[in-house]
Amino acid sequence: MGEVRIRPMTVDDAPRAERVTAIGFHELDTRMFRRSWPDPQLRPPERAAHWTRRVRHLVTTDPGGCWVAERDDELLGIVVSFVREKMWLLASYAVVPEAQGLGLGRALLQPALDHGRGCLRGMFNASSDPRALRRYHAAGFTLHPQMFLRGSPDRTRIPVVEHVREGTAGDIDLMDSVDRQTRGAAHGRDHELLISQFRLVVCETSSAHGYAYVDDGVVLLAATDRRTASMLMWEAIASGDEVLVGHITPENSWAVDVGMDARLELHQEGYLALRRMSPPKPYLAHGALM
Ligand SMILES: CC(C)(COP(=O)(O)OP(=O)(O)OC[C@H]1O[C@@H](n2cnc3c(N)ncnc32)[C@H](O)[C@@H]1OP(=O)(O)O)[C@@H](O)C(=O)NCCC(=O)NCCS
Repeated sequence: MGEVRIRPMTVDDAPRAERVTAIGFHELDTRMFRRSWPDPQLRPPERAAHWTRRVRHLVTTDPGGCWVAERDDELLGIVVSFVREKMWLLASYAVVPEAQGLGLGRALLQPALDHGRGCLRGMFNASSDPRALRRYHAAGFTLHPQMFLRGSPDRTRIPVVEHVREGTAGDIDLMDSVDRQTRGAAHGRDHELLISQFRLVVCETSSAHGYAYVDDGVVLLAATDRRTASMLMWEAIASGDEVLVGHITPENSWAVDVGMDARLELHQEGYLALRRMSPPKPYLAHGALM
């Protein structure tokens, strides 16, 4: 297939890298988000813009974790990984369909894993692609099946949500401390990006804390107890007519309880890949920033 070069990703590569993932994930996006678009080149511009901004942010914070496979001027594959407080995370990983299964994925993942050398823990969301799962298993990750909820909530079921307020950048320390308690590592600078992209809600009482990023459902949610997590999820569900709540491990059955109460549909998709840690709870991970 000609000479392929693996080299570090640059900020300027982000728009072309976005195209690689749009094509690589077209089938999965269509199935899970029910947002089918006939041509992978036509991924909704807002989602493409979010992806590109996020990857520029990660290339900036972790230049050693982001790599591309290139033949002549064409990008054939990309990997985006990063480290937060000694936890290695994988934000994106894809090879264009015509180059899959030829060893490029293996060659790309290695320098990303090397970036996390010295990190005890690892965490990311894995698709159901059997080739990807083979790579992750070989890298020492255990795979935890995840569920997701979607649909139009029954608004008569939505309770009065107390102690939940709008969040701001002034809540980052609070959120980092909830992150450390639930997933073992703060999101740090990723919160700045998330705040600029999504609505933030925070729950604070004398005994419990939690937060959620909201966008027609839950984008990311973490709390110090299940009751607080459930309240935040209700707030997120209430904000949309058609909602999605993803990345639910069996350890977070409280989210299934809320979803069933709201009369959402329960489905299963993908895995939470973990190394040297247990599934976080109460916690609903972000798709790429976890
Ligand atoms: C996941 C992905 C990046 C891997 O890249 P790739 O170039 O296809 O991967 P490789 O060729 O290096 O490795 C694939 C492995 O799966 C194996 N494989 C191929 N087809 C398989 C199948 N149907 N079932 C199980 N294993 C399979 C290959 O033998 C190889 O394993 P080996 O090296 O131990 O022999 C690529 O397939 C992809 O973009 N998939 C769609 C997007 C996606 O799901 N990305 C993962 C996001 S979490």
